[in-house]
Parts: sequence; C-alpha cells; structure tokens
Amino acid sequence: MNELAPSRYSRAVRLLHWTTLALLIVVYATAELRGFAPRGSGLRAQVMQWHMFLGVLVLLLVLPRIGARLARPAPAILPPPARLLALAAKATHLLLYAFLVLQPLLGLITAQSGERAVVIPLLQWPLPLLFGPDHDLHEISEDLHVGLGKIFYAVIGLHAVAALWHHFVVRDNTLRRML
Ligand code: HEM
Ligand code: HEM
Repeated sequence: MNELAPSRYSRAVRLLHWTTLALLIVVYATAELRGFAPRGSGLRAQVMQWHMFLGVLVLLLVLPRIGARLARPAPAILPPPARLLALAAKATHLLLYAFLVLQPLLGLITAQSGERAVVIPLLQWPLPLLFGPDHDLHEISEDLHVGLGKIFYAVIGLHAVAALWHHFVVRDNTLRRML
C-alpha cells in the first residue's frame, strides 16, 4: 500500500458527516416532540419552524458534501473487509446520500404545497416559495416524508451499529477514518 495514501476522509467530508448527524438528531427530535405541544400552540409552531429550517440546512450541506466526497477517493479500510461486506456498505452509503437529498426535499414540498410557510426561525424571514398550493401533491409528499423518516431510523441505526462493530469487534480503522 502507498504510504502517502491518506488514512482519513478529507477534513470537509468528516466535518460535514458529523455536522449532518448533529442536525439530524435535532430534526428528528423536533419531529417526534412536536406532538407533546398542544395543537395550534405557538410552541408547536416554533418546534416545527426549527424542524423545517434545520432540515433545509441538511439539504444545503449534502450538496457540497457530495462534491467533497467525489473530489477524493475514500481511504482504504485496513485490514480490508470481505468483498460482499464492502458492497453492502457501499449500497447503504448510497441509500443514505439519497435520503439526505430526498427527505428534506419531500419535507419542503409537503410544507409549501400545504401552504405552510418555511421561515428562518427567530428572524421570521420566509424562504422562497418553490412549490405552490397543491392538495394531491401535499398528501403524497407528506406520506412519503413521514414514511421515509420512519424507515431511515432503521437504516441509520444499522449504519451506526456497523461502524461501532468495525471499531470494537473487528478492530479495523473504518471509524478512525471518519474521526
Ligand atoms: C433530513 C431532514 C428531515 C427529516 C429526517 C425529517 C423527518 C420527519 C419525520 C420523521 C416526520 C414525522 C413526524 C411524525 O411522525 O409526526 C416529519 C414531519 C414533517 N416534516 Fe420533516 N424531516 C426533514 C426535513 C424537513 C423539511 C426540510 C421540511 C420542510 C421544509 C419538513 C417538513 C415536515 C412537515 C411539514 C412535517 C409534518 C407532516 C405532517 O403533517 O404530519 N421536514 N419530518
Ligand atoms: C452514530 C452515528 C454514526 C456513525 C458512528 C457513523 C460512522 C460512519 C463511518 C465510520 C463511516 C465510514 C464508513 C466507510 O467508509 O465504510 C461513515 C460513512 C458514511 N456515513 Fe456515517 N455514521 C453515523 C451517522 C450517519 C448518519 C446519521 C448519516 C446520514 C443519514 C451518515 C451517512 C454516512 C454516509 C453517506 C457515509 C459514506 C461516506 C462515503 O461517501 O464513503 N452517517 N459513517
């Protein structure tokens, strides 16, 4: 193996990976917790504003993240995992990238087609309207957004458990490459 080959992902990829994780924790928490605030209350509206705004940030960050990832090949895992396992990891990563693009887009479509303004919290500045009112579109995108959100608890969980399994059981450098 080339000794000059990088042993970690680029700084941009690492920073964007963990920043996105932090954002997703808050985005998921706000989605789950809004149900505890009374319907129609200011608190519920505010929780939703943060959900939508931080969700849009996830979308804005995934674009430079994909660019940064494509700019440099992934560092090698040492010792190399079995081919089938490496393939499964690649497929999961592609699913996760697709989720990071599609899920916030579906959220944005759900909100704007349902005439719910998406604003920058605290400032109350509205984001540009990309989708007009459309009842059918609203219903479909809402179902997909809520459904995908639930399915990806499992995919993200699997991904995180796999990373920890590599680190603590297999004891290879998979996780260290992302730190
Ligand atoms: C990666 C980012 C996102 C994730 C993981 C996510 C996840 C979720 C989840 C799990 C729910 C369902 C909550 C429940 O069970 O009631 C939800 C609801 C919702 N999300 Fe998101 N969301 C994201 C981004 C966005 C964005 C960017 C917007 C809008 C700009 C948005 C707007 C909404 C709306 C309006 C609902 C309520 C749907 C309903 O009426 O039940 N989301 N989101
Ligand atoms: C505790 C949570 C997490 C841990 C411990 C973790 C750990 C890791 C590790 C070790 C890698 C490198 C894997 C490899 O190259 O084979 C990785 C890659 C990746 N992670 Fe995570 N991750 C976590 C959460 C997330 C979340 C929430 C997402 C997005 C929804 C995500 C998306 C990705 C993607 C797309 C890659 C592929 C990078 C590439 O292009 O090669 N991760 N993660």
